[in-house]
Amino acid sequence: MTAVYNFNAGPSALPKEVLQRAQAELTNFNGTGMSVMELSHRSKDYEAVHQNAIDLLKELYNIPDQYKVLFLQGGASLQFSMIPLQFLKEGTIGNYILTGSWSEKALKEAKLIGKTAIAASTKENNYQSIPTSNEFQFNKNDAYVHLTSNNTIFGTQWQDFPTIDHAPLIADMSSDILSRPIDVEKFGLIYAGAQKNLGPSGVTVAIIKEDLLEVNVDQVPTVLRYKTHADSNSLYHTPPTFAIYMLNQVLTWVKEQGGVNAIQKRNEEKAKLIYDAIDESNGFYRGHAEKDARSLMNITFNLPTEDDNQKFLSKAKELGFVGLNGHRSVGGCRASTYNAVPLEACVALREYMDSYRASN
Ligand SMILES: Cc1ncc(COP(=O)(O)O)c(C=O)c1O
Repeated sequence: MTAVYNFNAGPSALPKEVLQRAQAELTNFNGTGMSVMELSHRSKDYEAVHQNAIDLLKELYNIPDQYKVLFLQGGASLQFSMIPLQFLKEGTIGNYILTGSWSEKALKEAKLIGKTAIAASTKENNYQSIPTSNEFQFNKNDAYVHLTSNNTIFGTQWQDFPTIDHAPLIADMSSDILSRPIDVEKFGLIYAGAQKNLGPSGVTVAIIKEDLLEVNVDQVPTVLRYKTHADSNSLYHTPPTFAIYMLNQVLTWVKEQGGVNAIQKRNEEKAKLIYDAIDESNGFYRGHAEKDARSLMNITFNLPTEDDNQKFLSKAKELGFVGLNGHRSVGGCRASTYNAVPLEACVALREYMDSYRASN
């Protein structure tokens, strides 16, 4: 089989070593004579995997003791509802910073539940940038402020996070969790579907400050309360055991790579190759994001015409590049360079971009 360069936006590339380890122990996990998928979620073999994943994430991300790591289901999309259900009570406002389609979706769900506001938005420039702190409009009765740290579809990313004092800051980090170090203490809640940087789809990670667990809790259905999952160490009901097993393998791999600082350095190197191909193309490739808002995870660009985009993409496909199409809502091209995408894939893409331009 010829080499495949996987630039899928999610689900996306997993580290080869992780897949090989999972394959090696697929039918006999830890000497149990069965797959990890067949173990009881109450067994000591499974519980060790579950706890190790929690401990490793805390270690890798420097998560302070007053935060809980939760494993939830329903994807990041269920968080769009769980957050307002839990935190938006009568007389308060869910305040959203809009930087792309996913923040719009989060806002849309909150509107079904309570009062909302838009603290800032970059919709008027087609989400090419990230708002600056002086643009934010806050209210004294904000229940929380919500942002999307990386905009998977438009290819922009917050470079620094604002410090917000009047309400908890909540971040959807689905497409850049663990791609760079962050100061967890700036946030009341961080959440992410696993299927980009953490593992396969099926598990959603939440990192929540303990003092938020009690808010409004009686009004929320049991399985949708953060407290339910915090109190039971995410074993209130059957967790997605295989996805958590894979998450544990991915976290182990991140640690072996040298941790989040080393991962960030590699991500910067990878993204630079592709942004350089754009910047040195004399306008042949046009990046969507403004330079100071560029994402290290999703690199979005266009060729001079839509016809050129299609020709570039179809030739790329023949050469083994997978997933370079832009999101169906915006078109163009997008290279997703998540943690597990190897440097070689980005080198190959850069070479292809240069040679395609030279011959067109
Ligand atoms: C930033 C962001 N938020 C939310 C979602 C939706 O995640 P899920 O499919 O896990 O509900 C995605 C999916 O791509 C995303 O990129």
